[in-house]
This record gives sequence, structure tokens and C-alpha cells, in this order.
Amino acid sequence: MLLDLTTHLGRISLKNPVLVASGTFGYGEEYAELIDLNQLGGIITKSVTLKPREGSFPPRLTETPAGMLNAIGLENPGVELFLKEKLPFLSQFDTKIIVNIAGEKEDEFCQVAEKLSKAKTIDALEVNLSCPNLRRGGYILGKDPEVVFSLIQTLKRVTDLPLLAKLTAAVSEPTEIARAAEEAGAEALSLINTLPGMAINIQTRRPRLGNITGGLSGPAIRPIAVRVVWEVARAVRIPILGMGGIMKGDDALEFILAGASAVAVGTANFVDPTTPGQTIKQIENYLKKNKIRRFRELIGKVET
Ligand SMILES: Cc1cc2nc3c(=O)[nH]c(=O)nc-3n(C[C@H](O)[C@H](O)[C@H](O)COP(=O)(O)O)c2cc1C
Repeated sequence: MLLDLTTHLGRISLKNPVLVASGTFGYGEEYAELIDLNQLGGIITKSVTLKPREGSFPPRLTETPAGMLNAIGLENPGVELFLKEKLPFLSQFDTKIIVNIAGEKEDEFCQVAEKLSKAKTIDALEVNLSCPNLRRGGYILGKDPEVVFSLIQTLKRVTDLPLLAKLTAAVSEPTEIARAAEEAGAEALSLINTLPGMAINIQTRRPRLGNITGGLSGPAIRPIAVRVVWEVARAVRIPILGMGGIMKGDDALEFILAGASAVAVGTANFVDPTTPGQTIKQIENYLKKNKIRRFRELIGKVET
């Protein structure tokens, strides 16, 4: 059976539904030595800000049961160096390039978006409205539906690139924020970012992260992520990119049945960089086994 794995996130058409999540794949360079980047549906870059950022105090990562906590603090070279040194490398591959943008104020997001829009090889921007490691900026902005609406609407005035709004699940009503992003013109939603957490070393009585708190990712957050994707999918018409603890094809399929049009592999890239490729194969096997030719027929097909 000839399978059709294609899917869409708004105007972005993907050859298959498996991407890699922001911050877990750098700018592709290190991973290109380990896997064939052409097999990916898309690559989402680490967040890019206007100026270079050094990030948080170390330690920046700590393992937790079924996951990890991180507080990288959006370390990145800044938009100018990204365009000069990182984008040309990524652009040689046959995969969609989605650049994740972050900032502390609306104006910073807009300046980054404007600069990126001049590049010819970027397919979309993912707007980070949910990083729990920023005391100012995206995370706080992303908790208020009115602010999300205004930010996406303003961004749409400065860029023609499709916008994916990356939202937090650390709010009581993720659907309200999702609707605000949709009404403002986001073409797709990325759900979910890490959830705020904390771990303490009881011997030293010190927090395990230099930043004190961090973002929890990995299988520990998957049931929350699947639930949020399911709730939001019923509240909006735009497509959803699902993520949170995907370690294999079965996990990805949960998100797809819950309503995600595509998925992103995050923390699993640190454990085994071949996870995205294996996930694609496992989705193919599931389709064959169930005699489904078009991947898209599976989206949202959970039977409740
Ligand atoms: C080390 C690390 C760094 C991350 N950096 C970013 C980032 O820069 N921007 C962003 O939007 N999300 C970032 N994320 C969140 C991931 O893209 C993803 O939303 C989250 O980790 C859930 O997926 P996972 O459980 O599969 O990792 C980061 C996650 C990790 C683990």
C-alpha cells in the first residue's frame, strides 16, 4: 500500500508529521552528524532573540522521574548571528525550517520577526509564548489572552510568514489562550511547552537548578499534553502541533488521535537521536496494520 504521510500546519505543508521540538535540536548542526535531517517533516530551532543571551546559571539540567527539568534561559547567539551562521547550514536540507522566536516585550518579538522575514529559506515562525524560565517576556505574556491576541496581531503586520503560537499548558483554561491566538491570525498552535517545576538536593539543601525553578519535560508531562491537545482541538479550527514526552510512535499516535495534525519530538532527542526517524516508521507501520492509506484520516479520531 502506498502511504500518504503528508499533513499541514496552516500554509506549511509537511512531507511527514514528525518534527523536532525547539531547544532540543539546537540549530541542527550537531545532529546532522548522527542522523539524516532530510527525513524530518520539519526542524524547529532553539528560540532566537534580538540580542545574544548567555542563559541561566548552571546547573541547567537535572533528571527527574520520567523526565527532566531544564533552565537553559534561552541561551542563543541572537538573530543577526543566527541568520549569518546558523540558517545557511539548515537551509541545505529538504525539510521545513520553523524558527522559534522569543522576547521580553512585543517590540522585541516584532524586531526579530522582521529580520527573519527577509530570509528566503524560513518556512514559518513559532512564537514562544510559554518559556517558564523567563521571569519576564513570553511566559508571562502568554498567560493573558488579550496580550496573546495583541502580540500575534501585531506580528502579523510585520511578517508574511505563517505564525505558530507556542502556548503554555500552565494555565487553568488553555482553550481561552488558544482561541485568542486563532482569532489574531495564528495559523497553527504548538502545544505544549515544558511545565514549571523544582527539585531540591536534600543533602546540600540547594535547588538542583541554578535558576531554582525550571521546565519539566519528557514522559512525565505526556498525559497533560495529550489532554490539552484534545481540549484545544475541540475549541479551535486551526491545526495543532502536539508535543510533550514523545518517545516512540505509539506516543505520537496518542497526540494525533487527540487532534494533533503533526507532532514534535523533544527530550527524546537527548536520549536517542534516532527517535524522530523511528517514530515516522512506527506511524507508517500503524497505518499499514490498520489499512489506512492517508495519515490525515487519523487526526482527531479518538473515540470518546
Ligand atoms: C533542554 C530544553 C530546551 C528547550 N528550549 C526551548 C526553547 O528554546 N524554546 C521553546 O519554545 N521551547 C523549548 N523547549 C520546550 C520543548 O520544545 C518542548 O515544548 C517540551 O520540552 C515538551 O516536549 P518533550 O517533553 O518532548 O521535550 C525546551 C525543552 C528542553 C527539554
